Formats: sequence, C-alpha cells, structure tokens
Amino acid sequence: MCGIVGYIGRDRAGRVMLDGLKRLEYRGYDSSGIAVLNSAGIQSTRRTGRVKELEVALGENLGGTLGISHTRWATHGDVTVANAHPHVSSDGKIALVHNGVIENYLSMKKFLDGKGYTFQSDTDTEALTNLIAYHYDKEKEQDNKSRFLEAVRKSLTHVEGTFGVAVLCTDCPGELIGARKGSPLIIGIGKNENLIASDVNAIAHCTQNIVYLNDNEVVHLSSEDFSISTTNSTKVEAIIQTVDWDTAQAELGDYSHFMEKEIFEQPESLKNGMRGRFSDDASTAVFGGLNLSPQDLRSADRIVFLACGTAWHACLVAEYLIERFARIPVEVEYASEFRYRNAPLDKNTLIIAISQSGETIDTLAAIREAKRKGYRTLSINNSVGSSIARECEGGIYQYAGPEIGVASTKAFTSQIMISAMLALYLGRLRSLSYGDGVEIVKAMKTLPKLVSETLDQSGAIATIAKKYAKYEDCLFLGRQMMFPIALEGALKLKEVSYIHAEGYPAAEMKHGPIALISKNCPSVFLATSGEIFQKSLANMQEVKARKGPVICVAGEDCELPEADIDEIIRVPKCHEIIQPILMSIPMQLLSYYIALERGCDVDKPRNLAKSVTVE
Ligand code: G6P
Repeated sequence: MCGIVGYIGRDRAGRVMLDGLKRLEYRGYDSSGIAVLNSAGIQSTRRTGRVKELEVALGENLGGTLGISHTRWATHGDVTVANAHPHVSSDGKIALVHNGVIENYLSMKKFLDGKGYTFQSDTDTEALTNLIAYHYDKEKEQDNKSRFLEAVRKSLTHVEGTFGVAVLCTDCPGELIGARKGSPLIIGIGKNENLIASDVNAIAHCTQNIVYLNDNEVVHLSSEDFSISTTNSTKVEAIIQTVDWDTAQAELGDYSHFMEKEIFEQPESLKNGMRGRFSDDASTAVFGGLNLSPQDLRSADRIVFLACGTAWHACLVAEYLIERFARIPVEVEYASEFRYRNAPLDKNTLIIAISQSGETIDTLAAIREAKRKGYRTLSINNSVGSSIARECEGGIYQYAGPEIGVASTKAFTSQIMISAMLALYLGRLRSLSYGDGVEIVKAMKTLPKLVSETLDQSGAIATIAKKYAKYEDCLFLGRQMMFPIALEGALKLKEVSYIHAEGYPAAEMKHGPIALISKNCPSVFLATSGEIFQKSLANMQEVKARKGPVICVAGEDCELPEADIDEIIRVPKCHEIIQPILMSIPMQLLSYYIALERGCDVDKPRNLAKSVTVE
C-alpha cells in the first residue's frame, strides 16, 4: 500500500529517499512526496502520478540531512497534490507521512476546531499532523527534545485505526520520529545515518542492519543514535537483525517487466524453497521453523487456512493437497471474513496464514484473533521478519526472493509448493506410506526442470495471446485442484489486462456462466489426466456447442479431440501433487502477454497495490 522512507544523516536525504521511493513504488503509486528540513524550514514537494514526476520536480534539489517521504495509495480523498503526503501542520511546525487509516479523524478535526488549525486536504493524515502540532504547542514549557517526542506520543494514543508514521519538526533539526500500529515500519541503522521505512526493500541498498518495530512502539532517531519506547513511554530493548537481502534480486536485469522476470525465475524460486527441506531418506519434508512437535501436529484435527487475494487461491490448492495426502479436514477462509465471523472451531484446530508480504492487514488481524482464542498459528510467507511471520508461533519461509510485480506469480507457485511439502510431511505423520513419500519427493525434485520446460512454450503462448487480446470477457474452468488454478488464472488476467474474467469449477458452468458463452467469450479449460478427465472434455464440448472459443491447457498425457479445440497448450506429464504448479505457468504467461498486447502497465496495474495494509 503506501510506502514510507525517512532519513536522518549527512546531507543526502533527498537522494536516499528518492531511491527508496522508487523501490517502494510497487506498494502504492497514485502520488508521492518528499519533505526535507533545512535552514529555510520544511521544503515539501508533492506530485500526483509516478515517482518519476516527483524526481523531475525535485531536479537537483536533493540535499538536506533530514527528511520524510511517501508514495500514496489513496484511501481518504482523491488523488490530488493537496492530498499527497507529506502533510504539514497549518502552523508550519510538523511534517508527517502516514500509512494506514485513522478512523476517528473527524473527531480529531472537531477537537481542533476553533483552536486555530486549518486543513488543506481531505485526508485523515492531516488531522493527525495538526493534532501533533497542537500537543507540541501545548507542551511549550518542556525542554525542546522531549517536547516533540511527547507531542507525537500523546497524539498517537488518541488514534483509533492503524498507522505507520514518520514525523519531523522544524524546531528539532536533529530528530526524526517513527511509530507503528498495524502498518509495518522498520529502522535501518547506518553509519552516521539512520533510516525508517515501511519495507526492507526501500533501504536495503543503504544498510542491512534492521530493527523491526512492533505495534505501539515509537522510535526516536538522530544521525548517530536511536531509542525505542512504547506509546506510553516504556523503554524497549532494540533487537538488531541483519537482513540477507540481495538488492540485485529486486532489479529488472535483462527483463522488460518484473512480472516477466518473476515468471521466468520460477525454476530457481521453487528450487530455493525446497533446498535442504527433504529428509535424508528422501521420504518426507523437513521444516526448521514450525516450532510444533510432530505430536502437536498429529493432534490437529482440522486446519483452517487464512489469506487474501492470490494467497487465498494458494490456500484452496493446499486444501485439496492436505485432504488428499494427509487426510486432515481443511477449511479455507478469507482473512477479512474470518476475523469478524466468530466461527466456531474445534479445540484442536491449527490455523495457517499464507501471505507473500507477511503484512496484509486482514491476514494479520485474523491471526491475532485466532491467537486471542488460543489456537496454534503457523504461517507460510515470503518476507523474513514480517509482522505475520513474527506473530505466528512458527512457520515456513518461501525463500522465493523479492516479488516486485503487483500481480503475484512466483510467490503463488512457491506457496503451492510449500503446501505440497506440508501435505507430504503431515501425511507421513499419519497414513502416507514410506513408498508414497519417496515417490512424492522424487516428483517434487523434478519440478524446477518441468517448470523450465513449460516456460519454453512462452513463444507459442505469446502467439495465442495476440489472438485473444481483443476479447473483453473470458472464463477459466477447471475441476478439483484445477479449480483454484482457474480462479487464479482469471484473477491474473483481470489484474493485468483489465479483461473481465471469472473462474469456475468446470461443471458449475452450467449453473449460470454458460449464459455468457458466445463467440465473443473464450474459455480457458484446465484439463489434467485422471478420473474426471472425460467429464472435463464433456464440459469443453458444451462450450464449443455454443460457439465459445476454447483454449485448453492440458497435460501431455491427455488425449484431446484436437480438431474441436481452438488452441492447445501442453504441460509436461507429472505427478498429481505438482500439477497445480505446472498448470499455473501458462495462466501467468497468457495474462502477461495479453496485457502487453493491450498496452497495459503490467507491473503497476491501475488501482492495485502489492501489499494491502489497510482493511
Ligand atoms: C494484494 C496483492 C496480491 C496478493 C494479496 C495478498 O492484493 O496484489 O498479489 O495476493 O494482496 O497479499 P499477501 O502479501 O498477504 O500474500
């Protein structure tokens, strides 16, 4: 969602922050801004559109030793310069950038009414900025240093909602303050300079020494030092962690788009996720961070998966895999629904969150709700040290590398792969035989090679994409494990190409979607061999009978009535446990190439953000 970078150090505030904002742009990008404090006061520059607009506006004017900056994804108020951050209090003393939502901003405004503060924007953030200025002014009697900190603290205790903030004050040129509740914020510790950011990616090129702030913590930074305390003034001991972040991984290299790069990185990202995670006898998976004993896991009678977006589709695949191979009943919930639903759950229910970023607010809140109720919680996520990873009892990191493209690709297949390995592990704790385990491990190890072979068809898929880019509607149909892949195929296409697409279990088509079928509405069928293959073919014929164009993605071992099918994309024959991964690849490529044909900005689709940190 919104991105924050703050800097205090030796005269390169603007440059560092601009670099950071560019790396954060994928989180939200309708407008951006920078405020630097120098002898003339707060110099604020804000622009709508991409960060490059801001860069042009700033020109060479990038000096200064203290600054805060922001990329915005609008929640309150239109996309205008006035609504862009940083916001400066009407007395000109305080500048602030904010990620999150201040739910009681109207009552803050009412409180400030008649006290001399005015508002230039429609945002919730400006209310907090003026509230800090008000408290700062009220605490005139205190010595200057703690006055600023106290004003921030006091104001934050009045916030209902979520925030990650960075604040500066004209009277305090050697101080930068950050705080978080519900929205991520990290501290980067450098040499004679310190940073704050909403995302490691923004500052990993400056320092790899990071402190993750927890909810209700406030950090007070100078260029040489920092201290952390809670909003009610209890001192907090900082834990400095070194992030193992290869900044080159977040660069485009020879690719045109991050989405393309991340699709083609999948043989590698999958290999990284399984490295060192099979037992010596190659019959099961091994995970270091579960923090639950085999006995604990054996006693789980039910698993509830929680997630949002693409990760929710990965959970649906996990449901099929775990029920099939471990025979444990699984339910999948949208995190945003679960957190308010108060679902009755058995006492031996294990909760697992899947989240690429580890920061999605609804998933985090759902995990907290599950913990409040006393359930054991695990996570599968791709961001080491993220909020969800830290708050769950244990978990499995995906090690897929940074995913920058807003439309998730390599993180999705890696989540499915980890789920398959978890199904294997849980299965082996129960009724899955040694022989079946060995066969599955063998199959998993073939995955990177088979994914490469599937990617080799990119040229053919690009040709198909050229033909189908003109349509405005598309159905994705699949059965069993291919149903969530159909959902994900439809989501990918709509996200990046803005074509209206829907995913359905193939047989459900007859209960409504069939009304859409015509020569103007193609269907993508996902067909795998097995007991229901013939039924999928019958569904395909139903579409053809209504003149609907058919693109069929099928295993090499599927015998298809080729003359009746408009386009065929084959994936290598493989064990059923890895089929959902292989079948996902053509979905990703098709969406990518169709979006290119339509001239869409695939890495930054309109209205979308990579990490959704507001409810
Ligand atoms: C956003 C992203 C999706 C992602 C979803 C959940 O909608 O655009 O790609 O699947 O959030 O994010 P998470 O980081 O929790 O997996």
